[in-house]
Amino acid sequence: MALTVIVDGMAQQADSGQLLIDLVNRTPSKLPQVCYHPQLGAIQTCDTCMVEVDGKLVRACGTQISDGMKVVTKSVAVHAAQREAFDRILKNHLLYCTVCDNNNGNCVVHNTTKQLAIEHQNIPFTTKPYEVDNSNAFYRYDPQQCILCGRCVEACQNVQVNETLSINWEDPHPRVQWDGGAKIGESSCVSCGHCVTVCPCNALMEKTMLGHAGFMTSLPKNVLDGMIDIVKGIEPETGYGPIMGLSTVEADMRESRIRRTKTVCTYCGVGCSFDVWTKDRHILKVEPQDGPTNGISTCIKGKFAWDFVNSPDRLTTPLIRENGKFREASWDEALDLIARRFTEIKSKNGPDSLAFVSSSKCTNEEGYLMQKLSRAVIGTNNMDNCSRYCQAPATVGLFRTVGYGGDSGSIGDIARAKLVIIIGSNTAESHPVLATRVKRAHKLHGQKLIVSDLRENEMARRADIHLHPKPSTDLIWLCAVSRYLIDNNLHKPAFLNQWVNGLEEYKKSVEPFTMEFASEKTGISVETLKKVAHMIAQADTTCILWAMGVTQHTMGSDTSTAMSNLLLVSGNYMRPGTGAYPLRGHNNVQGASDHGSMPNNLPGYQSVDNPEVRARYEAGWNVKLPSTKGLDNHQMIDAIHEGKLKSMYVIGEEISVVDSNANYVEDALKKLEFLVIQDIFFSHSCEFADVVLPASPSLEKEGTFTSTERRIQRLYQVFEPLKGSRPDWIIIKDIANRLGAKWNYPHPSEIYREIAALTPMFAGVTYERLEGYKSLQWPVAEDGSDQPLLYTKQFFFPDGKAKLFPLTPKEATEQTNQEFDLHLNNGRLLEHFHEGNLTYQTAGIRANTPDTFVEISAELAKKRHVQSGSWVQLISRYGQVRVRVLVSDRVTGRELYMPMNSVSSPINRLTSSQTDQPTHTPAYKETSVKMISLDDQGESPLPRGNSRWGHPTPQSGVEVARKWNRPDYRAPGSGLVQIQTVQQSTGD
Ligand code: SF4
Ligand code: SF4
Ligand code: SF4
Ligand code: FES
Repeated sequence: MALTVIVDGMAQQADSGQLLIDLVNRTPSKLPQVCYHPQLGAIQTCDTCMVEVDGKLVRACGTQISDGMKVVTKSVAVHAAQREAFDRILKNHLLYCTVCDNNNGNCVVHNTTKQLAIEHQNIPFTTKPYEVDNSNAFYRYDPQQCILCGRCVEACQNVQVNETLSINWEDPHPRVQWDGGAKIGESSCVSCGHCVTVCPCNALMEKTMLGHAGFMTSLPKNVLDGMIDIVKGIEPETGYGPIMGLSTVEADMRESRIRRTKTVCTYCGVGCSFDVWTKDRHILKVEPQDGPTNGISTCIKGKFAWDFVNSPDRLTTPLIRENGKFREASWDEALDLIARRFTEIKSKNGPDSLAFVSSSKCTNEEGYLMQKLSRAVIGTNNMDNCSRYCQAPATVGLFRTVGYGGDSGSIGDIARAKLVIIIGSNTAESHPVLATRVKRAHKLHGQKLIVSDLRENEMARRADIHLHPKPSTDLIWLCAVSRYLIDNNLHKPAFLNQWVNGLEEYKKSVEPFTMEFASEKTGISVETLKKVAHMIAQADTTCILWAMGVTQHTMGSDTSTAMSNLLLVSGNYMRPGTGAYPLRGHNNVQGASDHGSMPNNLPGYQSVDNPEVRARYEAGWNVKLPSTKGLDNHQMIDAIHEGKLKSMYVIGEEISVVDSNANYVEDALKKLEFLVIQDIFFSHSCEFADVVLPASPSLEKEGTFTSTERRIQRLYQVFEPLKGSRPDWIIIKDIANRLGAKWNYPHPSEIYREIAALTPMFAGVTYERLEGYKSLQWPVAEDGSDQPLLYTKQFFFPDGKAKLFPLTPKEATEQTNQEFDLHLNNGRLLEHFHEGNLTYQTAGIRANTPDTFVEISAELAKKRHVQSGSWVQLISRYGQVRVRVLVSDRVTGRELYMPMNSVSSPINRLTSSQTDQPTHTPAYKETSVKMISLDDQGESPLPRGNSRWGHPTPQSGVEVARKWNRPDYRAPGSGLVQIQTVQQSTGD
């Protein structure tokens, strides 16, 4: 409803429910506001936003507007109250801006001092009896500078929802506390950096900023202290005016050497975007602005794990193998050799004797060029990317049922859903920022959460129901719940009639899936399964999220299909807050497949055997294209063993340890006649290469990434490529041109122009439409309109209707037996990305998570006489690894879990070559092992400083009422007029 509010005599239109501060911020009136942050909502701790409303003093951030409200932002009483509030802030904060690393034009305390034209403090600065806390590897807390605004607490409690931070309001000297009083480095803090990002001053600072941002901040501490004393000494005489003037000049000078460049995270598929602050090649900090996906959010990797970019281990020279050893080579020599060997092998054995593997870390433009090189230059569809290892079954499940192989909505829909079901996903560690949206909705907005997982991971601990099915049985309970909904008239017949084909055939197919059958197979009680079904039926909107715990099974495609079937049966498509969300792993695994790095599809999922599609690309590329499906990653390895595949070109993919049955893969790579590996480090896979090419990471190039929610975003070049390395798109172009291609792309935007012209799904994508933080969620029509929510008007099939896909019961191919008596699950760790090639380069991460381990239950540890730190040998039918034990209550019985953060003891020495049939995605999660104790006791694999040992202190937020209840608290101006407050807001 539109309302009218009078602000300083001017009528303003507003929406009901709007906070007064948001309205005033749209007007020319300038209001101080230290604790208010639009993404945190009103936390009402600073009292600086005082205004008069209908003659009474109120906090603008804590006041909801009402029709006809009369607001005065400038009056004697208002100014006195604001001034009094800010004086109290300066009691807690020393203004030494010129020698402060936070004096970069955006310091809220500095700017408010200027705004209020403060000349002298009425309440003097008072020290607090606390030391600076430097115990976290990435940031430090200075209690002396902390103004107790509580932004950090709100961010930690209710945005990140790690619930580490609080303020001890009742203490004579309140401060921010970690786990109620622990050192940061010994607390539950996961180093996501939310708190540092929102801190309005220098109390919380990234360590990479300290001593680097200012012109004088690197001076020795005693000199700095002396300068601070001088400032304190002159302030009574000169007032703050000249001091602020000087620091403003110094802040302006910093602009000349600090660059802020927008990029998109290189790690997981959530797609967080942020500014990277740099000084020369030094990364000062990562600062999320208002990214379309993440707002102020990051996880430890996006915020702090960038040391790899400037690592001395980076490859900077092409390497050529000669007489079994690598020697350095020039770019020309290496590229000429590649072109010559590709040509020879093609002439001798045909184009299908070569294969190409694109990288999910590379840009869309690079993936596109790689498949174009394979198809248009070499003439083979032997082209794939690592979605083969993870998400291909999810795509098949969606292709079968709803048509598009992507998330059916946005992360905002997941946050909005009344019920979220997470299956086989350790979301809080693998997709951390996305998980925060679920944690927040569950904590604050009554969202219900069901988690199905073998482990009691963080999301399972938070869930209303944690299902712990027997391994590889999600398919069974999903089908049983769908059948139960139909049998009990809890489904949505009107939706099915209008929008879905195949109901009768589907009903027949799920007949075997009774509740009793499901209970027997999964070990979940009938009662619990019924409860799940009723929760789905009762929830107005349901989203299902899943990841590799589902897809990496021999029935991965079917289980993904079962989820989509369940969503159709329960009417959970076509509306905000509903739908299917396969959580894509790598930053650009979605984009790699979208842009044609697949053996069966040209860009935009257009089949290679469709003559019309081929004709369009043949005309665009001026070549004849191969028409039969090529080899996928899995088939490539078999084809090498069979002697059919002679050469591979692999970009940014640690293929030798991330593919399953690593020993078999290594044996294959050894047999290749000619292997090119392109990477930024000398990876394990490089050991099998004939030529190694040094590439550039995302910070050194331009392009686009597509995140899990089909969101295409631009990344801008932060640094020049490290001397000797080159961006992948330039390397691919150079190889193609040496093979006669005559490609001429001066910039990645030209590549995208070609993609858009040839691919209907991306017809309206242009770099201009993606400028800065703008983004588009495919499909994008020529006029630039995109689809945050898919299927608003129809499903992606010719008749516009979805399909219920019939399914049958399936069992894992590899079961435990007497010899291999333990089930081994695996997945990611929060701190590391996959095997850790990038993240181990960050010292703070290496120190806190130095190695992989195997989680075992206390019960099993007792039986096998091992404890945390004991070395054991895990032996499967395919290989063995030596690894340390971590006794954990996250796993039970004979189920083990091993994170994948190791190249030396990779989980894939143990996994098999069994696959999901439609996709050939390896069944990584169907692994049985035996465990032999090595009678060798080491340290716990998780150092004491790891956040998992911490003890969070959940609370509702800042809990400002506790501050107001202090006997010494008096609202500013409250001697004169009455203070009003509204319920503490939660920011949305
Ligand atoms: S988890 Fe740690 S880094 Fe993240 S908001 Fe909380 S205290 Fe800050
Ligand atoms: S540390 Fe927290 S409470 Fe202190 S100033 Fe920063 S955001 Fe505010
Ligand atoms: S790793 Fe994922 S969740 Fe973390 S900052 Fe990067 S994109 Fe966001
Ligand atoms: S901005 Fe801090 S109380 Fe309103």
